[in-house]
Amino acid sequence: MNSPQIALRGIERVFHLGDSDVHALRNLNLDIGAGEYVAVMGPSGSGKSTLLNLLGLLDRPNTGQYLLEGRDVTTLSPDEQAQVRSQRIGFVFQSFHLVPRLSAAENIALPMVLAGLPAPQRAVRVKQALKDYGLENRADHRPDELSGGQRQRVAIARATIMQPAMILADEPTGNLDRSTGEEVVRLLEGLNAQGVTLIVVTHDGALGARARRQLRMEDGAIKVDTARDASASAESVNGSAGALATAGPALDGSATAAPAA
Ligand SMILES: Nc1ncnc2c1ncn2[C@@H]1O[C@H](COP(=O)(O)OP(=O)(O)OP(=O)(O)O)[C@@H](O)[C@H]1O
Ligand SMILES: [Mg+2]
Repeated sequence: MNSPQIALRGIERVFHLGDSDVHALRNLNLDIGAGEYVAVMGPSGSGKSTLLNLLGLLDRPNTGQYLLEGRDVTTLSPDEQAQVRSQRIGFVFQSFHLVPRLSAAENIALPMVLAGLPAPQRAVRVKQALKDYGLENRADHRPDELSGGQRQRVAIARATIMQPAMILADEPTGNLDRSTGEEVVRLLEGLNAQGVTLIVVTHDGALGARARRQLRMEDGAIKVDTARDASASAESVNGSAGALATAGPALDGSATAAPAA
């Protein structure tokens, strides 16, 4: 790997709740190269979303450094971070996070509005995105007038409309049935095939096994990294013997992990 697209050095994230501290990320070090396809797995509360939020500049570490394309982004102002996020990063969430009162087309256009792109250019790109994602006859529907799969396609169109260098997806199929989830994963993998870095948090062992690299998080640390630990298999990442052979949902040990609350 040349200089990595993402480099985390000694990242710590502690949440203070009343008089107790939750150490969500502990001395985390991680390199991810441009164009990689990485699955992040591990039990509930192990820090997966916290990691993704940091990578997406939605949150800041308490200590440590995040170099994005060689640039230290931990010391940027909120406005500068928003700029980087808008230009380089696309986010896809489990619960879609669409704006309820905006139509599909308006949701897709939103990042371009925020980035100040001129209306004619926005219109061209939205039209193409609606076509690419099979939403042409749903352009004027609000999110509550769309199916789950259609909502996630709108969310992916919105996440990619600014042509980001990386897509961060936190349980993108968590609210979808298996076949709709498959379709969403294929869309994300298609973007990765075009060179976009794809980082997916998932509880689904079968989905995680599709990535070229797997990380297993436990208690705020990366316990297994198939790129680092030559002997690690997707099985050990899954934390469940024979998981690959019987790949299915919730094989990553989450079912036996005690949730925080
Ligand atoms: N805003 C917050 N304030 C306080 N504690 C938090 C906050 N966000 C996360 N945590 C705690 O940090 C730890 C890691 O949370 P995180 O959401 O990253 O877990 P996760 O691996 O994504 O879990 P899940 O699989 O359930 O989504 C948990 O113990 C959680 O309770
Ligand atoms: Mg999470």
